[in-house]
Parts: sequence; structure tokens; C-alpha cells
Amino acid sequence: MLLALALAIPLLLLADAFPPDPAFCDDSGDCFITNAYGTWNDRVSQIVYPSNEEELLEAVGYGAKNKLKMKAVTKSSHSLPPLACPGDGAAAGLLAISTANYSRGIAVDVASKAVEVDGGAQLQAVLDEAARHGLALAASPYWNSLSVAGILSTGSHGSSWRGKGGALHDHVLKLRMVVPSGKNSSSSSSHNEFAKIVTLTPGDGDLFYAAIVSLGTMGVISKVTLELEPMFKRSITNVRTSDVGLEDKIVAFGNEHKFGDVIWYPSKREAVYRIDDRVLVDIPGDGVNDFIGFQPTLAPAIVAQRALEETLEATRSSIGKCSASQTQVSLLQSLGYGLKNTRSLGLFTGYPVVGFQHKIQTAGGCQDSASRLLICGWDSAKNALFYLESGIRIPAQSIAAFIADVKHLRDSHPDAGALCGIDLYTGVVLRYVAASRALLGKPFDGVDVGLTYYRSRNGSVPRLNMDLWQEVEQKAISKYGGVPHWGKNTPVTFSNLGTGSSPVLERFVGAMRSSTWSDRLLGIQAFGTVMAAGCALEGLCICARDEHCAPEKSYYCRPGRVFTAARVCRYENA
Ligand SMILES: Cc1cc2nc3c(=O)[nH]c(=O)nc-3n(C[C@H](O)[C@H](O)[C@H](O)COP(=O)(O)OP(=O)(O)OC[C@H]3O[C@@H](n4cnc5c(N)ncnc54)[C@H](O)[C@@H]3O)c2cc1C
Ligand SMILES: *[C@@H]1O[C@H](CO)[C@@H](O)[C@H](O)[C@H]1NC(C)=O
Ligand SMILES: *[C@@H]1O[C@H](CO)[C@@H](O)[C@H](O)[C@H]1NC(C)=O
Ligand SMILES: *[C@@H]1O[C@H](CO)[C@@H](O)[C@H](O)[C@H]1NC(C)=O
Repeated sequence: MLLALALAIPLLLLADAFPPDPAFCDDSGDCFITNAYGTWNDRVSQIVYPSNEEELLEAVGYGAKNKLKMKAVTKSSHSLPPLACPGDGAAAGLLAISTANYSRGIAVDVASKAVEVDGGAQLQAVLDEAARHGLALAASPYWNSLSVAGILSTGSHGSSWRGKGGALHDHVLKLRMVVPSGKNSSSSSSHNEFAKIVTLTPGDGDLFYAAIVSLGTMGVISKVTLELEPMFKRSITNVRTSDVGLEDKIVAFGNEHKFGDVIWYPSKREAVYRIDDRVLVDIPGDGVNDFIGFQPTLAPAIVAQRALEETLEATRSSIGKCSASQTQVSLLQSLGYGLKNTRSLGLFTGYPVVGFQHKIQTAGGCQDSASRLLICGWDSAKNALFYLESGIRIPAQSIAAFIADVKHLRDSHPDAGALCGIDLYTGVVLRYVAASRALLGKPFDGVDVGLTYYRSRNGSVPRLNMDLWQEVEQKAISKYGGVPHWGKNTPVTFSNLGTGSSPVLERFVGAMRSSTWSDRLLGIQAFGTVMAAGCALEGLCICARDEHCAPEKSYYCRPGRVFTAARVCRYENA
């Protein structure tokens, strides 16, 4: 069926040019920054591409001297919110400092088991270089194409409650940051007139813990020193089972396995427990994690999947979504989600898959494709996948009740297939993130609940069964104390955070003349929700009246089904 669709669809996608670098200037000299999916696009007045610390110092000095608002942008630009925008709307006085060319420095110090990298260094390049010296990085996100400074800035993570946990920022030994001078000259070590380099270590206390997760607001991270350890291997076995008792097992599972996570398919009443532990390097195995969702994928197959999803949305077919996702999930599982037992043969022959840390902790590949025939699923081309992505960290002591509550919502819903849509992406991804001292980290052990779901290309078009996920997200935050991932989510998820501004961070954000978006996240500026028509459809508001949904399409503002304090857009056919 997928193949037939693929053949039937004109390959419009193939005519598209390569996606532009996320920071680019067009022929008429207008400059823009965007993200990898093309979900936002902002004007800036100028883009600079420093390639060493000296040039970076010059760039920040230039911005400070000319009183420009500035922000670092990366080659990957994978955050969903417009965090990297130095301003909003007005193009004047905005400087984007790209780290695309500031990525080559990766210096491993074997004796002290550490690596110092340029802020723009790509995660996998760092892991591979450390591995060449027999060393490994314990924690990282799963997608290998992100930049090190970009990962730190949003507090991105893998999955682990053990040791220092699964977030990269908790493995930082030292940061070198370039900031406009004048604010705090006591810690400067080198300067030009308008910018200086600040070196921070844990000994600097709050300042260090503010800097390791700082949304790009404190300065441009020049160099990061990460703690390494002797190379080790991991052994992974995915156990696919019923989701009965998931709520009772979730905390114990996180304590039992060093790198475990859980993929939950609520509509299938199924959970996949990833038993993932450290093993000694002499255990045989040279496996790799070649996660299927990050492999270069045939563009026509992606176009076909998107077309199918659009059809199922248009026909309001949750049954169709259930059968499509059944096929897709079975295929993924038969292929071990892309795990391969041997690097050379590249085959999945069964569990356990044992491999070196740097080949298991991340996956990727589609970012390096040289052909428009083989792309990433989320490619910015107009016919590729398009979705919303949420990440909400729920404290360990509340996660069981949260899961039980989502099950209750599922079981009380008249349409048994109402939750199937999420299985077309990755299901509900449950990852363990340990408490962190970072000021914008979270001070508690928690479980990150990852949700990825369909988004229409037209912001005025509601999504099938959107009320359910709105209810889940609202209760995650307001009933279970969840906190959002800084690099994901829709605006409304951040709006009633009540974090207040962080005084330590504020000392420095003035220096970077930070952006509206990050000011809002820090609580320096109110989110100021505009209750406009349709605002609840893509998370710009929580609906209060029908017009905030799409009454003309029979989507009305209603209380949640189980969590009645929620306000969601629900389809009601009179
Ligand atoms: C396919 C995919 C998989 C993902 N997997 C995970 C995952 O497993 N775990 C997870 O937690 N998250 C994950 N994410 C989210 C992602 O990790 C974050 O959005 C991350 O911040 C993106 O990094 P980036 O290098 O693209 O930075 P960007 O998105 O470009 O930038 C993020 C912020 O960092 C700032 N910044 C960047 N460089 C610097 C610098 N040198 N100095 C100061 N500030 C800087 C920017 O100004 C911006 O505010 C994933 C996203 C995608 C698309
Ligand atoms: C960035 O580096 C690339 C490759 O080294 C080079 O071609 C390009 O000119 C550089 N860009 C800028 C703006 O310096
Ligand atoms: C300047 O930075 C140092 C740490 O590097 C800190 O101890 C000091 O309090 C800061 N001073 C001001 C005025 O912020
Ligand atoms: C988006 O959808 C709305 C409502 O269905 C419609 O009026 C509008 O024309 C659509 N916009 C585009 C660009 O297709």
C-alpha cells in the first residue's frame, strides 16, 4: 500500500533544493534564521561565522559595541521553539553568531579523561574522537547531529538516573564563554574592549550552574570541557510486553538499569522496556544503534507516509491510524528499531545487542545524506513529515499516578483507537533524567514524557483527537508538577510555569540583550497569551471559549474527560 502510494505521487519533493543552512542570506542581502523543520523563520540584520575563539571575541565585541541584540545559532538548529532568534519581528539591530564553522576543535586529554570542544562541535564527532583515545562520554541525547553548546543550552538529555545522570550538562567540567564586557570584569581572563572570555568551573558555584543550561542568554559558549571515562560497552534487550502494571514498574525499572527507557504504546496496551546496562569491554559484540527514524529514508516513502496521514486526518479515521501504526510498529520491532548486532554486517539478528558506548548511545545518518532522494523524515521540504513535539519532565514520585491517569483516559474514551496517532511516530517515550544542580535544570529525579504527533501545515486546521493530547499535557503540568523541555513544546506549555526569573541568570542576560522568547522562559517578560480565534489549535493558548478552537469545523472548547480542569478542543458532531 505504501509502495503503491509512493508510485502514485508525483515526486514533488525531489525537485526541492537542499534545505538552506539554518542561518542564511538571500540574493538581495536579507538574512534569516530558521530551524531544521522550517517551522519558524526570522529576519536578522547580519550573520557572522567565527571559526576560532579570537573571531568569536571579535564578533561579540562588534555586537556589544554597536548595541546589537545577539544570539548564537547552530548548523543543526533542531530546537522547536525560536530560542535562537535574537529578536522578534524587527530585522534591525539583530546579530546572529553562527557556530557552523566553529566546530573543529576537539581535544582529548587522556591523562585527565576529559575533552575540550568548540561550542559548535557536533555530538558524534566528539564521541568518535574520544573513542579513538579509548574514552567514552556517559550521557548524551539520542540524536547525534546536535551541537554540544546547543545541547547544553536547552538541557538536553538521554536516559539515566544513575551516576551523574543522562543530561550532558551534568558532565561539564569547565566552560569558556564569550560575553560582552562591563558586567562582571572580575572573572575575565582575556578581552578586547567590548567582549571578554569568562571561564567557569563548578568552583564558581551558582554562576557555573546558571551557565551550563542558559538558553543562549548568558553569552556565546566558546569551549566546553566534558568529563570522560574509560570506554565501556552496553548490552541492550528490548522486552515487548503488556502495559499492565507499567505504573508500578516505571520507577523500579529506572533504578535497575543504567540506561533504560520505555516506549509506551497506550492504544496497543503495550510497553517496550529497554533493558540497557553497562558491560565490560571484553564481552563480545560490536553492535550499533542505527535507529530507523534517523536513517536516510527514501523521500517517496516519507511523502507517502505523510499523504496517508493527511488522508486519515481528513477522513477522521482513527481506525486507519491504528492499522497503519500497527504495521509500522511491527516492522520497527522486527528490525530491532535499527539496532544491529555487528557493525560490519549491519544486521539485526536478535537480542542482546552489545556494542561500544559511542556506537550505541546515539544514532543518526540522515543529516549526512548527499541526495535529495534520501532524507530525514522531518526534512523542511513541504511534503515531508510535519509534527509537534512535547517533552515534559514529571517528578519520579508522580509518574505512576500520571500513567494510571492516562490509562484511565484511554479506557473511558468511547473510541478505542483515539490514541493510535502517536504510534505513527515514536509512541510515548519515557526517559529517566536525574536531578541536576543547573539553575534551569530540574532539582528532582524525573521521567521525561516525550510525545510527537501530527501537525497540519495549515495552523487553522484542527487535529484528529487533539483533545486527548491537550488533556494529557495540561494534566502533566498542572496536576503532576511536570516541567517542559526548553528545546521542545508549544508556547502555552511554558506560559504558566511560574518559575520566576533567575536572579543569577539575569545578571548576565542583560549583557546579551536577550530575545523575547528567552525572556519569557526566564519569567523576565510575561508570555502575554493573545486569546485570538483558533489560538488553542497549535498551543498558543489554552481555550476558554469555542472560538479559540475551530467551531466551524465542530471543534469546541470543552473540559477534559478525566482531568476536568483541562480545557481542550474537542470534536462534537451534533
Ligand atoms: C531528531 C531530534 C532528536 C532529538 N533528540 C533529543 C534527545 O534525545 N534528547 C533531548 O533532550 N532532546 C532531543 N532533541 C531536542 C534537541 O536536543 C534540542 O532542541 C537541542 O537544544 C538542539 O541543539 P542544537 O545544537 O540544534 O541547538 P539549537 O536548537 O540551534 O540552539 C538551542 C539554543 O542554544 C543556543 N546556543 C547554541 N549554541 C550556542 C553557543 N555556542 N553559545 C550559547 N548559546 C548557544 C541557541 O541560541 C538556542 O537558544 C531532539 C531534537 C530532534 C530534532
Ligand atoms: C565556513 O567554512 C566553510 C568550509 O570551511 C567555508 O567554505 C565558508 O566560507 C566558511 N564560511 C564563512 C562565512 O566563513
Ligand atoms: C562576578 O563573577 C564572580 C565569579 O566568577 C562572582 O563571584 C561575583 O559575585 C560576580 N560579581 C558580580 C558583581 O556579579
Ligand atoms: C487554512 O484553513 C482554513 C480553514 O479551513 C482556510 O480557510 C484557509 O484557506 C487555509 N489556508 C491555506 C493557506 O490553505
